[in-house]
Amino acid sequence: MNVAVVGATGAVGETIVQVLRERKIPVERLGLFASSARSGVLETSTEALADYDTVFFAGSDEASSEFVPPILERGGVVIDNSSTYRMRSDVPLVVPEINASAILPEHHLFPVGNCTAIILCVALAPVRDAAGLRSVNVATYQAVSGAGRAALEEFDAGEGAFVRNVVPKVGDFGDDGYSGEELKVRDETRKILDLPELPLYATTVRVPVRTAHSEAVFFETERETTVEQLALVLSRAPAVVFHRSGVVTPRDVEGTDDVHVARLRSAGDDKRHFQMWVVGDQLRKGAATNAVQILELLIARGVRASSFDYARQGRATQDDIAGSG
Ligand SMILES: NC(=O)c1ccc[n+]([C@@H]2O[C@H](COP(=O)([O-])OP(=O)(O)OC[C@H]3O[C@@H](n4cnc5c(N)ncnc54)[C@H](OP(=O)(O)O)[C@@H]3O)[C@@H](O)[C@H]2O)c1
Repeated sequence: MNVAVVGATGAVGETIVQVLRERKIPVERLGLFASSARSGVLETSTEALADYDTVFFAGSDEASSEFVPPILERGGVVIDNSSTYRMRSDVPLVVPEINASAILPEHHLFPVGNCTAIILCVALAPVRDAAGLRSVNVATYQAVSGAGRAALEEFDAGEGAFVRNVVPKVGDFGDDGYSGEELKVRDETRKILDLPELPLYATTVRVPVRTAHSEAVFFETERETTVEQLALVLSRAPAVVFHRSGVVTPRDVEGTDDVHVARLRSAGDDKRHFQMWVVGDQLRKGAATNAVQILELLIARGVRASSFDYARQGRATQDDIAGSG
């Protein structure tokens, strides 16, 4: 299988290359692309990408808009970390532990969800399955590397807007007062959890942390439940590390693939309101690891080196995830 990574010099692209190696994906040829050619990377062009069966995108929305369509036209597979195609009704938004069955044989385009939404959904899916979800409020504490390599370099140099500050603006504000990030978290969480009407309100905040997003999540369940019952399902949930006591911080989680849940507690007497603290490495489970897990699902379903026929028919299942974290 020939694999290309567009945006290989960036925060997510570099992590995709690392995760492909860590998870021993059978790559015959790996092509690394950026906006311009320099040591170790080629300039991205439709012609240069023509030799690759599977192309990961971790560049800009503009790069995905320009270079994804020709790959799909020739039958290639695209796994795209930009937000360009996430909300299209004809493409799945796959978090393998949650909705692997959304992948159909005809799908060749796989957007990877917003990092904050993926981390939130990994923690909320077990709650949805156990007791239903009536509403969610979330306040986020998002790491600087979520804004890309340049922001992280500024931060490490002690410069830029994120140093010694907390900035409640991730993306541009719309007329309704919500930021672009807040709307992505709402819309993509609804799509991933298959709860299109779920009331969900987010406040997204950039904090002076290098990597790993934290989220304070307040949720109401459909059915009555207890902290103990929710603790049980969370402790058994795929890709979740549940902490019965103590705290978990971004520094504990940076570089790992699981979503950590701590401080689960009741937020009222009616057995429907709860709170929890959720932390995940947004470059890994929120982006690169989730992207590579999607390729693992496709490989398990028989995507072959030079043709994209699915050897097996039917839907992918959670069992198809190889070495899920
Ligand atoms: N950072 C995160 O935590 C995170 C999480 C989830 C999703 N995402 C999404 O993933 C994508 C990459 O984010 P990032 O944080 O890794 O950004 P980044 O660190 O700024 O890296 C961007 C990469 O894309 C390349 N690039 C930019 N414009 C391009 C173009 N027109 N053609 C080809 N390559 C181009 C850059 O190449 P040069 O080096 O040549 O400029 C660089 O390699 C974005 O869509 C972002 O929204 C990011």
